Amino acid sequence: MTEEQRSQPNRPDPQRDMMLDELQRMGLAPPVDAPRPAEAGSAPTGPGVAPARSEPGASADPAAPALPVSAPSAAPHGPPPEPAPGPRPFPSPNPARDQPVRRRTPSPAGSPPPEGATGPGAPRRAPAYDLPSEALRGPRGSLTSESLTAESVLKHRAPRPAGGWRRTVFALTGGTVNPGPSKQELRRAELVARARTPVQVCRRVAVISLKGGVGKTTTTAALGATFASLRGDRVIALDANPDRGTLGEKVPRETDATVRDLIAAEADLHRYDDVRPFTSQGPSRLEVLASDADPGASQAFSEADYRTAIDVLEVFYSLVLTDCGTGLLHSAMGGVLGLADQLVVVSSPSLDGARSASATLDWLEAHGHGALAAGAVAVISGVRPGRSDVDVGTLQEHFAARCRAVEQVPFDKHLGAGSVVDLEALSSRTREAYVRIAAAVGDGFATPRDPSKDTRP
Ligand SMILES: Nc1ncnc2c1ncn2[C@@H]1O[C@H](COP(=O)(O)OP(=O)(O)OP(=O)(O)O)[C@@H](O)[C@H]1O
Ligand SMILES: [Mg+2]
Repeated sequence: MTEEQRSQPNRPDPQRDMMLDELQRMGLAPPVDAPRPAEAGSAPTGPGVAPARSEPGASADPAAPALPVSAPSAAPHGPPPEPAPGPRPFPSPNPARDQPVRRRTPSPAGSPPPEGATGPGAPRRAPAYDLPSEALRGPRGSLTSESLTAESVLKHRAPRPAGGWRRTVFALTGGTVNPGPSKQELRRAELVARARTPVQVCRRVAVISLKGGVGKTTTTAALGATFASLRGDRVIALDANPDRGTLGEKVPRETDATVRDLIAAEADLHRYDDVRPFTSQGPSRLEVLASDADPGASQAFSEADYRTAIDVLEVFYSLVLTDCGTGLLHSAMGGVLGLADQLVVVSSPSLDGARSASATLDWLEAHGHGALAAGAVAVISGVRPGRSDVDVGTLQEHFAARCRAVEQVPFDKHLGAGSVVDLEALSSRTREAYVRIAAAVGDGFATPRDPSKDTRP
């Protein structure tokens, strides 16, 4: 096969067709009436298509093998792992204090493709012979090291299939026949890219509901773990329960320190290594800052305390998720709502759970937080398959009309156990649900922060 055929696997190719026929006879490719890779229309291989690398979490393709969910590096103090394809997260571990990192020079064709652009209509990468453009020249018109980008230098390679018969064909033909990723793989890559939306300042996401026991803590831990496993920057979940919260039980405990200890040590926290001893980290890289185990003491967790904790954390983390206690009037809640960039409103798949979640939105609208309510992501957690007296579709429609997005999380045995949340132990449908929630929340990162939310002048 020639280099040209290799780089354009979807061109008519009798030799490849014969090979596919042979694979079909061997039962390693779909039957003759199934669409050929080139016809399937599900394998755009243009440069705008996000490559289907093995990502943490489940493969959306039922035929694909389970994908690892742990981030490559789970070392507590190690550098964040190299992010996979998609929009690059803000690379600094210290986003608030560091200078903003200059982005790579855009592709010579002009502005880079829009985030998550996929499919045949996605903008094409400029060919190498278009270089150099004026944008890549130095002050005297000379070439600079910035001229040498992956896009301009590396030969185009079509995205590889991650699993199923497509991967088998790819492997058996030594990569010469590349059916490309499936529609599900492309869809997942798009969700992952949205979850990885870069942030320039630390984003604060609060997980709330008026009702207790609906899944706030579970959502905080699983969503945080999903973000931490997909993004290259630091993610922390903070327990702001006024009484003994359970967030600290969702990761293997590395320390007995609590948010109160962190606040007490505030004046001595200058570097990430100063803060890290106060947190526990799970295999996803999510760090958790637990609440006070003593209910008597934690009742004093005030709005000022919460603001101090956020003040410390936002220097070292790109994303802070806050697990709130039941109700909206407890001591820390003024700070939580005052500082939150986004809300995740949690409901159980029941009438009373949904009414409470909807009442949460009513309360927010009535108390000057209408924008937070409208921009919220609603999560219906614990949806059981099969017949139920509750029409979850109606709940879905209700929240879709009131919030920016709504997602359902299936009932999952692992989450039902109420212990440490391990993404690898979740069913693939549950993992996918959290990736969809992370994508919906990640969409909000593209909107600049409301200046009234700034804690620093
Ligand atoms: N998707 C799910 N599948 C199975 N069980 C779930 C799911 N979501 C939540 N649960 C279970 O529901 C129970 C309550 O969840 P969780 O502790 O997260 O609620 P909460 O709103 O934080 O409660 P509280 O108001 O007491 O803090 C837990 O036992 C949890 O394991
Ligand atoms: Mg809770």
